[in-house]
Amino acid sequence: MFRSLCIVSVGLAGLTLCVLTCRGEEEAKKPDCVFVGTPNDVVAKMIEMASITKDDKVCDPGCGDARMVVAAARAHGCQGIGYEIDPDRIAEAKALIKKRKVENLVRIESKDIFTVDYRENTVILMYLLPNMILKLVPQFEQLKPGSRIVAHNYPIGGVEPTKEIEFKSNEDNVSHTLYLYVTPLKKATN
Ligand SMILES: C[S@@+](CC[C@H](N)C(=O)[O-])C[C@H]1O[C@@H](n2cnc3c(N)ncnc32)[C@H](O)[C@@H]1O
Repeated sequence: MFRSLCIVSVGLAGLTLCVLTCRGEEEAKKPDCVFVGTPNDVVAKMIEMASITKDDKVCDPGCGDARMVVAAARAHGCQGIGYEIDPDRIAEAKALIKKRKVENLVRIESKDIFTVDYRENTVILMYLLPNMILKLVPQFEQLKPGSRIVAHNYPIGGVEPTKEIEFKSNEDNVSHTLYLYVTPLKKATN
């Protein structure tokens, strides 16, 4: 009897350890790129290109300190959601939301951007690396027709932009390329 109880206890302890280890691994997923903030005047230009209104649901996959969704909410009173997995950035994002008093409009979720369902969003504002953007294309293809995606510096590979502009930032004195896509996404011809 005592021996059986010991075997069951050891088994349960092992199972618990395994579950905790697996959860620990899940939570420890590292960001696929480092944080580099988009200058605020470039963010404002992206918001203008996306023709955002108060009825839009704006999303920034890999939101960093949430400057894009916060700026969109402040400018147009729209809802915003940012996805981020770096705990330090999430803390900064939450602080900015509070500082700019947009808690009623903007929220941050600690989620890997590759696991998100974006279908409820009508606008995507993003600054991600080309390989990350490519991986998100199947999710973006599910957006409602007429949704807008604005990408900073890196385009969506293999997709024809609706509009492409160069914008010189007064903050860093650098020219930034901005790409607008209106869904459904159109395959590039070359
Ligand atoms: C280049 S920064 C852009 C930040 C912000 N969108 C901006 O333009 O100011 C990219 C952000 O994506 C986050 N990131 C990278 N991989 C991610 C992933 N798999 N899931 C969620 N966030 C991720 C990084 O932590 C970083 O803050």
